[in-house]
Amino acid sequence: MRSALFLPLLLLVGALHAAEDARQLAPMPAAAEANLRAEMRANLLALNEILGLVAAGKLAEAGALAEKELGVSAMGKHRSQPFDARPGPHMPPAMHAIGMDGHQAASAFARIAATGDRERTIAALPSLTAACVGCHYAYRIR
Ligand code: HEC
Repeated sequence: MRSALFLPLLLLVGALHAAEDARQLAPMPAAAEANLRAEMRANLLALNEILGLVAAGKLAEAGALAEKELGVSAMGKHRSQPFDARPGPHMPPAMHAIGMDGHQAASAFARIAATGDRERTIAALPSLTAACVGCHYAYRIR
């Protein structure tokens, strides 16, 4: 009885959510999409590892990983690949800019973590995820 009521309600909420999706569609070739998504999963993995390192007080390692995987050092990974496989050039400029800001923010975090200042490093943690959230709430590729 309860589930008979719950299921249609769930479907309705799902439909409302879909109708409310105001994110801008930024389509890209299949090869670029595959690269983007693989890079995204690697981002999430790196983020999780950075959080673990900060929690363990391993600030130098956290900073080094942030720079290598998320920072300016991580830019241009697909530069040598065919145009259709490169996510960056297929993004609208504003979307691309969020990505660049994210790399800059991760490098700034890395510099703070490298100082070994635990308070400041923890205070800077949200800067690692601001671009993730900003882009995901504004754009979709399908
Ligand atoms: C410049 C835009 C942008 C930024 C910045 C960005 N993402 Fe994404 N991300 C995307 C898009 C676009 C998708 C695909 C969404 C879709 O399926 O329509 C995506 C998908 C993902 C996925 C799902 C991957 C899959 O296999 O489908 C994960 C996980 C993810 N992002 C993590 C992150 C994390 C963590 C960060 C920050 C460190 C981040 N992203 C920053 C644009 C971005």
